[in-house]
Amino acid sequence: MIDPEVVYRETTPRSGALHERAVTVMPGGTTRTTTYFAPYPLYIERGEGCRVWDVDGTERIDMIGNYTAMILGHSHPKVVEAIRAQAARGTGFAAANPVEVELATLLCERVPSLDAVRFCNSGTEATMFAMRLARAFTGRPSIARMEGGYHGTHDYAEVSTHPAPAEAGPADDPRAAPDSMGTPGWALEEVVVLPFNNAPAAERIIRREGSRLAAVILEPIIGAGGVIAATPEFLRRLRDVTHELGILLIFDEVISFRVAPGGAQELYGIVPDLTTLGKIIGGGLPVAAFGGRADVMELLDPRREPNIAQGGTYNGNPLGMAAGVAAMKELTPDVYDDLNRKGARVCEQLTEVFASHHVPVQVNGAGSMLALHFTDTPVVDYRTMAAGDRQKTRDLFLDLLNHGALMAPRAMGALSTPMGEDDIQRFVDAVDASVAELRPRWESREPTSQTSR
Ligand SMILES: Cc1ncc(COP(=O)(O)O)c(C=O)c1O
Repeated sequence: MIDPEVVYRETTPRSGALHERAVTVMPGGTTRTTTYFAPYPLYIERGEGCRVWDVDGTERIDMIGNYTAMILGHSHPKVVEAIRAQAARGTGFAAANPVEVELATLLCERVPSLDAVRFCNSGTEATMFAMRLARAFTGRPSIARMEGGYHGTHDYAEVSTHPAPAEAGPADDPRAAPDSMGTPGWALEEVVVLPFNNAPAAERIIRREGSRLAAVILEPIIGAGGVIAATPEFLRRLRDVTHELGILLIFDEVISFRVAPGGAQELYGIVPDLTTLGKIIGGGLPVAAFGGRADVMELLDPRREPNIAQGGTYNGNPLGMAAGVAAMKELTPDVYDDLNRKGARVCEQLTEVFASHHVPVQVNGAGSMLALHFTDTPVVDYRTMAAGDRQKTRDLFLDLLNHGALMAPRAMGALSTPMGEDDIQRFVDAVDASVAELRPRWESREPTSQTSR
């Protein structure tokens, strides 16, 4: 019976050796929890198009593209040229620059909710500032968020992203649970947790807590938490109730911005008050943004008193701005259509593969993203996601590495524009081969049901 970890160790000796060095200088030998996996992470040396090569020289198809950021694949010639040209002119000045105006204009033109935008360097900063803006605008202290959503790693964000279901209270009235040691007690008091895709329960909680709520923040399509799309009805109810109660609605589109030129808000036809962006808007460099209604964004205007200061040595840095402009210009409506068509097709193919092996799985797809959940029940929220078999997910992830495909360790995937039909077929074939190989191992174990992460 195959043990994917044994094969992984045998075929990635240089990654293993690098990790042995890394553990002496970084905790666990890693600087990014989301790319760590046991027995040790894969060390990638280079990428081109939809392929990556590890330090042992093994080529793999990249089915996650730096957690969805690399929508154009690696080293896209236009993006590389933009970076090269800007690097030669300088990478940062204590001044405004023309490229930031270009990217800001482009985003405001595309995204329905953006009257104005500000740049920062990570999705974490973007959601932190959007929440601060909401508190400043409304004069209220608290933020409501979805159980199982992900908004980065600041204190207000590190609540109920992946709670143990047994400790998270009733599904229709979840309790705020810390995601991390060190999450402050005040964060648990000021964060209200809502059940995703349960409109009556979410509305009831919002009405109950409304007088203290500055904002409701959510991913219209949950990304890292399992590619779970909100129902249109859920978003509509949130829009209506927040509008009625004077609460700002924030769409965190750090990931879902890849589903359409104007993001998920364009697809659903629902305009939030504020939006956060990241990942694809920097063409692979660390760029993020938050923006929205003019009367809210105005609080950041340094010409008025008081105002919210938003310093940041690298905010709007010309290198990231240039890469972002180049990437955005490549992303025409036709490109999105093509990617989304391929996304739908790969989900169909994967569903057929698992059915042919009689392995129960939910293939959650949205646009060019997908996630595999080993469970019988449709995955529509955190609790149904957390019921999936985590050990099978880990086995599949490792075995796919052994078969030449890189997903996220949670079996999340994202397509990129350089992927042709043959690349996609190669990925589907790798899944087919892995499932065939792993089935005896899975059948020899009792089914387990565990929480995620
Ligand atoms: C929806 C969402 N918001 C925020 C973040 C945080 O972004 P970053 O990792 O750039 O801080 C992420 C990261 O994956 C995300 O998926």
